[in-house]
Amino acid sequence: MNKRGYFGNFGGAFLPEILVATFDELERVYTEARNDPIFWHDYEQLMSSYSCRPTPITYAENLTRHFGGARIFIKREDLNHTGAHKANNVMGQGLLVKRMGKTRVIAETGAGQHGVATATMAARFGFDCTIYMGEVDVARQRPNVFWMEQLGATVVPVTDGTRILKDAINEAFRDWVTNMDATHYVLGTACGPHPFPEMVAWFQSIIGKEARRQFMEREGRLPTRVFACVGGGSNAMGIFSGFFDDDVELVGVEAAGRGLNSGAHASRLCSDDASVGVAQGYKTYFLQDDDGQMRETHSIAAGLDYVGVSPILSDFKEKGRVRFEGATDREVIEAVRLTMRKEGVIPALESAHAFARAFKEAPTMSPDDIILINQSGRGDKDIFTIADAMDDPKWKQFIIEKAKQYHA
Ligand SMILES: Cc1ncc(COP(=O)(O)O)c(C=O)c1O
Repeated sequence: MNKRGYFGNFGGAFLPEILVATFDELERVYTEARNDPIFWHDYEQLMSSYSCRPTPITYAENLTRHFGGARIFIKREDLNHTGAHKANNVMGQGLLVKRMGKTRVIAETGAGQHGVATATMAARFGFDCTIYMGEVDVARQRPNVFWMEQLGATVVPVTDGTRILKDAINEAFRDWVTNMDATHYVLGTACGPHPFPEMVAWFQSIIGKEARRQFMEREGRLPTRVFACVGGGSNAMGIFSGFFDDDVELVGVEAAGRGLNSGAHASRLCSDDASVGVAQGYKTYFLQDDDGQMRETHSIAAGLDYVGVSPILSDFKEKGRVRFEGATDREVIEAVRLTMRKEGVIPALESAHAFARAFKEAPTMSPDDIILINQSGRGDKDIFTIADAMDDPKWKQFIIEKAKQYHA
């Protein structure tokens, strides 16, 4: 066990012996980059020329009027190239891969956003790319699988376990153990063994740095409350990091799925169903049974459907710095509908968890208060799930016609 990389009681690096040297190399290169001001400058340049940064904050005037409480602003991570905050992390890791002189990247993906972002980065930097994805997620996120393949990546459907994100992570680690010399594992969230949680949170801190500056420029003050959805925790860590040292309330919103009492959810920090354990190389809250076996998780949003959570957020929960809440699938669909109709903005199902919770709290706050919601991604990828949930008859007809064309 490596004692470095702990956040309070959480984190660490529980590694198979064979990977220790690879992690040491990664930690060394990451630490050098972090101490090199030119690296962050180059990273910001790359993100502005390639990924539309800085992303704006949008004043949601119509939603504000609708709820009649706090003023609502949205940080527009959906405007990143490839449609989500995932680009921040993968482009940063891509620069590190170049520094390490490796030629192949692998990644796991749930919703597919991280997979598309990694395949895009690999195309741009000229790396070979393999993406591991649970078979269930392959089925529900086919558009993203299509794009990953077109971008030149090999997508491997994982048939082990419950065939979702945690199984894809296990498979990616298996690949890494056998191919570590030329391969870097681009982990997609602020989880996993040290230095991944800290490193991913660092790349994502570009969101919070910008948001803080934008609020000071525009409003001359900081928001009252900041909402972000929590899967592994990378977009939440990103936006929260701009406000950790301020008197700003931070709210992480997890997937309450069919309800916190239903057993069908993915809430680790806002439910009593999770407990502290060690898995996938790190220590945090996991949804596990008394024998330490991982439980099945559920969320309408594939990107939130994960059994573990960032050790940094587990620590913030224990310290009371971040409040954790849940939003149900039904509340999420309603939040997507309302945001589209009122603002002409389509949040990803993941991001809509943050919207749903903010909408509950906005009316109870005063017009002097400011809410900031991190829109971690855009909802285009979710068209099949959203159309199903909305029971849209014209969409169904379109699918039937399309299937007929394929002689189904
Ligand atoms: C758009 C979007 N938001 C949020 C998440 C959840 O990840 P994290 O908690 O690391 O931000 C995902 C994961 O795939 C995602 O695609």
